[in-house]
Amino acid sequence: MIFTKINYLEWARRYMGSVRYDLARSNLKPLTRDELDLSGDAVDVRRMDSLGHPGLRKLLAARYGVSPERVFITNGATMGIYLACAATLLAAEEVLLEAPNYEPLYRVPLHLGAEVKTIERRFEHGWQIDLEALERRVSRRTKVLLMTNFHNPSGVATNPDKMLTLGQIARDHGARVIVSEVSLDNAFSPGHKPAVRYGDHMISIGSVSKVYGLDGLRIGWVVAPESIVERIAQIQDYISGGISAPSQSLALAVLAKADTLLDRSRRIVQENLKILGEWIRRREGCGWVEPEGGTVAVVRLPPKIDAVDLSNYLREKHGTLVVPGDYFWLRGFIRISLGVEADLLRTGLKHLGSALDHFQRPLR
Ligand SMILES: Cc1ncc(COP(=O)(O)O)c(C=O)c1O
Repeated sequence: MIFTKINYLEWARRYMGSVRYDLARSNLKPLTRDELDLSGDAVDVRRMDSLGHPGLRKLLAARYGVSPERVFITNGATMGIYLACAATLLAAEEVLLEAPNYEPLYRVPLHLGAEVKTIERRFEHGWQIDLEALERRVSRRTKVLLMTNFHNPSGVATNPDKMLTLGQIARDHGARVIVSEVSLDNAFSPGHKPAVRYGDHMISIGSVSKVYGLDGLRIGWVVAPESIVERIAQIQDYISGGISAPSQSLALAVLAKADTLLDRSRRIVQENLKILGEWIRRREGCGWVEPEGGTVAVVRLPPKIDAVDLSNYLREKHGTLVVPGDYFWLRGFIRISLGVEADLLRTGLKHLGSALDHFQRPLR
C-alpha cells in the first residue's frame, strides 16, 4: 500500500497562514481564551478509554440521537475519514465519490486499494448531487457513497429529502453512505440532520475544527453502526493507542456550550455572506450558488481566467490567499472562507477585484 501526496494539503501547508489576508481556510476564526472561558478543571489528563472520552461520547450521542456505543472519537475528522473508509472497504471494491471533492476523500479509498468512480455536482444544478446520475452509476459493486454536507468546496447543503432518497438508493444497492459533516452544525435553518439520522447504513463524521474554530484540539468523531465502531477500534490499534485526554476534555467543555458558539459562527458567516454576495453582484462575470451555512463558498470566475494564475498573483502582489478550484478538480472557480473577520474579507475582496482587473485588462 502506498501513500501518494495529497496536492491540496501540500498547497495548504505551504501557503495558508503565510499571508496577511488569508481567505483560504475552511475553519472559523479561532476562539479566544476569553470566548472559551474555561477553568483549568476542564483539562483532564487521565488516560481515556481507547474508543474515546466517555463523557464526550455521551454528549455527542445525545446530539446525534444514537447510543454512546455508536460514537468513536478520532484525531480530527481527518482520522475519522481514514478509519471510516478502512472499516467499510476492501481492496478492489467500488466507491462513488462526489466531484468536485475534498481531495482526501479521493486519496484515502485509492490508498486502500478501492476503485473510485465520481458523480458530478455541477454549478448549473446548484452543485446538487443529481439523483438520476446516482441511480445510473450505482451498482451491486458499490460499497460506499462518499460525500460532504455542507459540500466542500461549494458550501451548499444537501436538503433532508434528498439525503433520504440518496440514502435509500445506496441501501437498495447494499452500499453504505459516509458523509463528512464538519460544517453541518453551522446551518442557518433547522431541519438539516446528520447522516446517521437517515438510516443504519449511514455514517457521520464530525469535528470541532471548523464551525467551533478549534482545529488545534485535533478532535473529531465517527458516528456509525456498532459493528463498524468495533472494526474501527481494531484498526485504530494499528495507528494509535487513543486520543489525547486533555484535547477530549476541552472538546467536551466546548461542546457543552455548543449553542452559544453556534450563534457566534452563524453571526460571522451570515455577515460575510452578505459582503461576498454584494461583491459578486457588482462584479460582472462572477457568480455563485449562495450557501445556506457552513464555512466556505465557491465563486465562479469570469471566462478565461485561470484560477491558479489568479491565486498566485493575488498572493504575491496583494498578500491575499484564495484556494484555486483546481485543487478540488474544478476549473474556473475559487473557494473563499466565510469564517474570517468581516474587515479582512472586505479588504481581501478589494484585492481580488484588482487582481481580476489585472487579468481582464485589454491587451495593448
Ligand atoms: C470535508 C472535510 N472533512 C474533513 C476535514 C478535516 O477536518 P479536521 O481538521 O477535523 O481533521 C476537512 C478540513 O478541511 C474537510 O473540509
